[in-house]
Amino acid sequence: MRRAVCPGSFDPIHNGHLEVIARAASLFDEVIVAISTNYAKKYRFELEDRLEIASETLTYLRGVSVRPMGDGLLAEFCREQGANLIVKGLRSSADFEYEIPMAAMNRQLAGIETVFIPAEASYSHLSSTLLKEVAALGGDISSFVPKAVLKRLSEDPR
Ligand code: PNS
Repeated sequence: MRRAVCPGSFDPIHNGHLEVIARAASLFDEVIVAISTNYAKKYRFELEDRLEIASETLTYLRGVSVRPMGDGLLAEFCREQGANLIVKGLRSSADFEYEIPMAAMNRQLAGIETVFIPAEASYSHLSSTLLKEVAALGGDISSFVPKAVLKRLSEDPR
């Protein structure tokens, strides 16, 4: 049984995330999308919203579940979930530089391997931060995020 954890803030989840999760689902038996909370971080969407958006959006993928990760160590969360793989999408060399030390640390802490999935070129410019900025300034992000995100944004524009 290959059970992988795909962690992130997902604030909000976007089409680049969805594409990586779908590819992970085709590689592994189970993929747990783990939504993090970092109390030092200010989120645009509450944890409950981030969980609901991801759950609603990912129902079409078999073997994928969405769970809160809490604010602890990712390695510990993986151990609790019985997962020995972490999946991350890579958009650029900057992502690679950022991810490599964390992958080494998670392996040393708990023997957990990190598998990187290169982002599809048409999504490699997407980030939640950029999309939130575009949306806040009135830009159209409808081709980059699932409908559940657009619905929340229209209910609570800021
Ligand atoms: O979407 P993000 O904000 O880039 O996700 C970052 C996340 C949640 C994957 C990362 O912050 C993380 O792994 N947090 C858990 C805390 C932890 O384990 N830190 C040590 C990493 S080796």
